[in-house]
Amino acid sequence: MTNTDTEGSTQGQATLNIYRGTETDGSFETFTIDTEPGMVVLDAIHKIQAEQDDSLAVRWNCKAGKCGSCSAEINGHPRLLCMSRIDELDEGVIHVTPMKAFPTVKDLVTDVSKNYEVNESITPFTGRELQTPEEKEKNEYRLSQEDMDRVQEFRDCIECFLCQDVCHVLRSHDKHEVFHGPRYFVRYAGVEMHPADDADRVDDIWEEGGIGYCNITKCCTEVCPAGINITDNAIIPLKERVISQRFDPIAMLWRKIKGDA
Ligand code: SF4
Ligand code: SF4
Ligand code: FES
Repeated sequence: MTNTDTEGSTQGQATLNIYRGTETDGSFETFTIDTEPGMVVLDAIHKIQAEQDDSLAVRWNCKAGKCGSCSAEINGHPRLLCMSRIDELDEGVIHVTPMKAFPTVKDLVTDVSKNYEVNESITPFTGRELQTPEEKEKNEYRLSQEDMDRVQEFRDCIECFLCQDVCHVLRSHDKHEVFHGPRYFVRYAGVEMHPADDADRVDDIWEEGGIGYCNITKCCTEVCPAGINITDNAIIPLKERVISQRFDPIAMLWRKIKGDA
């Protein structure tokens, strides 16, 4: 790859090796394009579509890192195509492939519908009475700003599914049926840790969510373009809830006495 300078004075070229085909039948095709300053990989793909092959399939929407549509892999790393500058990639051919953890529909477009099925299975926010009778009497609230701030981070998710793609439980072991994946632990955390929520999803997080498969490698946190600290702020607190609610011997005994288990 001959590169441009960031001030825009020099034009160069980039060579992209792009996966073409479906899940079961495909191969790589190489394209060389003239680059422009500040160009991102999605720009390069649009240029190929405009000048060389308009049948090249890619999903995108905002071109600003906000919609989560353009997820793919660049040189084997899950990335947003629209936020990956060509001049910041290593010299050489740029390999662009669809996300490995999901079936390829065509070229760079994957079928991510499994994620939406998982999303629908999660018990949504369930508001509770904000004050107990005693608190009402004392005019006290149990909501604190600190607790509210804690869940705000989880709302930044743009549903790019890069975390799902990088997670070895889904990517290498294909455990989609028994493991909901990091994006959905973020969703669980957003409702489960919300101070005004009344539902109990701990059994779901363990049984359907399969949080026990996560061994805290932190790869999901590293790829998240929204900067969500998925492991430390969502997964670990959820694991702690599961352990204290399901496996703490005193809690188990108490549930038995109450007839809940
Ligand atoms: S920390 Fe857990 S959820 Fe995240 S990538 Fe690693 S195994 Fe997957
Ligand atoms: S948690 Fe981060 S990486 Fe995962 S889907 Fe949301 S924005 Fe993407
Ligand atoms: S096109 Fe929206 S995040 Fe890339």
